[in-house]
Amino acid sequence: MCKFFSFFPSTLLRAGFLFSLILAACSGSTATPIVEDIAPIATEDTSPVLYTDPGQPIDVRVEDLLKRMILEEKIGQMTQVEKGSIKAGDITTYAIGSILSGGGGSPAKNTPQEWYAMVEGYQEEALATRLEIPLIYGVDAIHGHGNLQNATIFPHNIGLGAANNPELVDAIGRATAEEMLASGIPWNFSPVIAVVQDVRWGRTYEGFGEETALVTSLGTAYLEGMQTIQEGDLVSEGQTIFALATPKHYIGDGATIWDSSSTGDYKLDQGNIQVPENILRERYLPPYISAVDAGALNVMASFSSWKGLKMHAQEYLLNDVLKVELGFNGFIVSDWQAMDQIYPDDYYASIVTSVNAGVDMNMVPYDYVTFIETMKKAVDNGDISEERIDEAVRRILRVKFSLGLFERPMPDPSLQATIRSQEHLELARQAVRESLVLLKNEKDVLPLSKETPVIFVAGQGANDLGLQSGGWTLEWQGKVGNHNEGTTIISAIRAAVSESARVEYNSDGNFSEFTDDAGNPLVADVTVVVLAENPYAEGVGDAADISLTNAEVKLLNEARKQSKAVVVILLTGRPRIITDELPLAEAWVAAWLPGTEGSGIADVLFNDFPFTGKLSYSWPRTHEQLPINIYNSQDKTGCDAPLFPFGYGLEYGESVPEILECK
Ligand code: GLC
Repeated sequence: MCKFFSFFPSTLLRAGFLFSLILAACSGSTATPIVEDIAPIATEDTSPVLYTDPGQPIDVRVEDLLKRMILEEKIGQMTQVEKGSIKAGDITTYAIGSILSGGGGSPAKNTPQEWYAMVEGYQEEALATRLEIPLIYGVDAIHGHGNLQNATIFPHNIGLGAANNPELVDAIGRATAEEMLASGIPWNFSPVIAVVQDVRWGRTYEGFGEETALVTSLGTAYLEGMQTIQEGDLVSEGQTIFALATPKHYIGDGATIWDSSSTGDYKLDQGNIQVPENILRERYLPPYISAVDAGALNVMASFSSWKGLKMHAQEYLLNDVLKVELGFNGFIVSDWQAMDQIYPDDYYASIVTSVNAGVDMNMVPYDYVTFIETMKKAVDNGDISEERIDEAVRRILRVKFSLGLFERPMPDPSLQATIRSQEHLELARQAVRESLVLLKNEKDVLPLSKETPVIFVAGQGANDLGLQSGGWTLEWQGKVGNHNEGTTIISAIRAAVSESARVEYNSDGNFSEFTDDAGNPLVADVTVVVLAENPYAEGVGDAADISLTNAEVKLLNEARKQSKAVVVILLTGRPRIITDELPLAEAWVAAWLPGTEGSGIADVLFNDFPFTGKLSYSWPRTHEQLPINIYNSQDKTGCDAPLFPFGYGLEYGESVPEILECK
């Protein structure tokens, strides 16, 4: 029935009543068709239908489909709705083109099968539309498919930046794509390719680092891993990408000025960047140039502003630079309700401005009816041209054809076997190992011997996968506790040591209950103290004070009481100010936010593997230095220099160089 309507030329279908009638007839929605049966109407368009033919070139399919669409269907393709807000039947009624899960947006039962069924249900509604255009479902799988319970959770990008291994990052992009597709989802709003200049930003850990070349290299590697079709992949005829990546947030999201944000109590996130165009091009554009050259087909616009104008309104940067100069032929998606921020008191003007500036799809994500009505009004008023609508829809359709969605609207369910597969777990464990940075190691306390007689382990972070994983894991802001499968640090240490070693754990670092044979307080040969940040995401994590908390200092001092030597492991989404506390431990390791495979930490602590990680962020000595990065500290020495510079990381047998001393 519905396929029949695809022969109608759009001119005949413009009449609103006929359109809703057809949609109702196709959708199985509750709306009762005005007449039970529609007498076939002679159509002017006798051209063969090409868009359903996978043998046709993608752009031929795009043009053939576009010419058959009416305005309402085109606007539907530009509409992305979050799963909690879409009403049953409305995907069909409004021809919605995309659905997303925001951070934590999982089905009631958080299993791959339930995710797949959820996405399939939405897809069935999309395929019930007149032209049967499949929808595209998106999610933030920024360090593995974090919304999915018991997915493989990889180190956040700050750790991958320290590893700085493009092949590893490519493989992680691929593994993440497999676990996403396994749950029915082909679109990942990742990687962040921010060149982060101020580590007080709550999204520092989502960035690979502060230096353009490193971010460019790893961002592109991730995209290629996610998008490249490999031998043996189940793909459709004409499909050109395995899954869809989203380099974000265009452009300059990590370069905002402190206290320039107008969003809630955010300080940096969604703030303003004030750099001249030459710096914008030299420092922040190269990751996008490389991503577009590598085949990026989606980019997310940034909440932030340049010179006081929201990026979502920057026609020069969105259209002239990204689309025309860089030749980007995918589509630009807005950030979460970000269009609305352009003119907070004038929704109509915000939508018109942002669509005309070059944003092709609106992550509405709530009130999609108002957005659709606003768009129709803007076209009727001539404030948004039909040509602009066609350009946006052309780009969206190009991506959907490139993903093979028309031939196979749902991914290969057999990919569910890849979720926490041995291969993925080993890859994650390798990433953890390579992400670790040895900051200090006096008296060669590290590496530890597996025969160490007594090892104490202190801190909740040693026994908490939620703290080990950070934000964007199960919930938007992360979720403290052990709610995923994985290996905690204490488990990893216990598994690594020999039977002769005694390992005792206390989350508060209080080991007074342990005595030696003489009844004296037991003194550990070494105490491993895990200092862990509570998880955060986005501007919620913007922080003026990045020193150790009182609780962390208390834990460290408590743990030192019964120990011959102390090793601190930092679970952190950013460098922290540790200058004053550095003398309190012989060794300090930056472990970042390693994800679920904590075994990688034990692998290096016990010297099964060496330390190889190098800082991808300058490590500040004082708050007064902030923001400090490779670009504003190259001529700084002594006490003005970072505590540890970009690229710093000790190997076994090395000590902190005297040059870093501040006298
Ligand atoms: C958020 C983030 C963006 C994310 C999107 C969907 O606000 O800024 O990175 O992809 O919304 O969750």
